[in-house]
Amino acid sequence: SSVTPPFRIIVLIGLMGAGKTTLGRQLAQHYGLPFIDTDTEIEKACRQTIPEIFANHGEAHFRAGEHRVIRRLLNGGPCILATGGGAWMHPQTRALIHKRTDICTIWLHVPMPVLLGRLLGNRGSRPLLAQGDPAATLHRLATERYPRYAEADIIINCGDESVEQGARNITE
Ligand code: S3P
Repeated sequence: SSVTPPFRIIVLIGLMGAGKTTLGRQLAQHYGLPFIDTDTEIEKACRQTIPEIFANHGEAHFRAGEHRVIRRLLNGGPCILATGGGAWMHPQTRALIHKRTDICTIWLHVPMPVLLGRLLGNRGSRPLLAQGDPAATLHRLATERYPRYAEADIIINCGDESVEQGARNITE
C-alpha cells in the first residue's frame, strides 16, 4: 500500500555520504513513487561514470550537465529525487526549485564524523575526495554549502540512526 505524499516531487539535498540515495529509496517505497538519482541520470546521459566526466571534461562541464538533467526531471512526473551534493549550489537549479510550490526540499544534515566514517572507505566514486585530505575537503564543502542547504523546506538531523528511522522522521 502507498500513501499520497503532500508534494509532487521530493528533492533530497546534502553532502556526499548523507544517505540521500539510501533514504530516497526508502521514501520512494513508502510513497509508491519512482526513485531517481541525478548522478545515475547524468551517467546514463553521458554514457560515462561521474569520475570519468570529471576527468575527461572537468567539473564545470559536469555542473552544466547536472543542471540540465535536473531541469528535465523537474518537468517530469512525481518522484523522489536524490541530487548530487553540489547540485543545490547551482543558482539556476535553486531558482527553478524555489519557484515551485509542488516541490519539497529536504536537507539531510548528518554529523561530520558520521559522514567521514561512511566516505573514507569509498572515495573512488567521488572525484572531489579523490585527491588531498578528504576530511579537510569535506569540512570546506560543509562551510561553503551549509548556509545554502539551510534554505531547504525541511531539515532532518540524521545522526547515525538507521535508514528506517530517518525515513520515518521524514514521513512523520
Ligand atoms: C558531488 C557529489 C556527488 C557527485 C559528484 C559531486 C559534490 O554526489 O554528484 O561527485 O559536489 O558534492 P553524491 O552527493 O551523491 O555523492
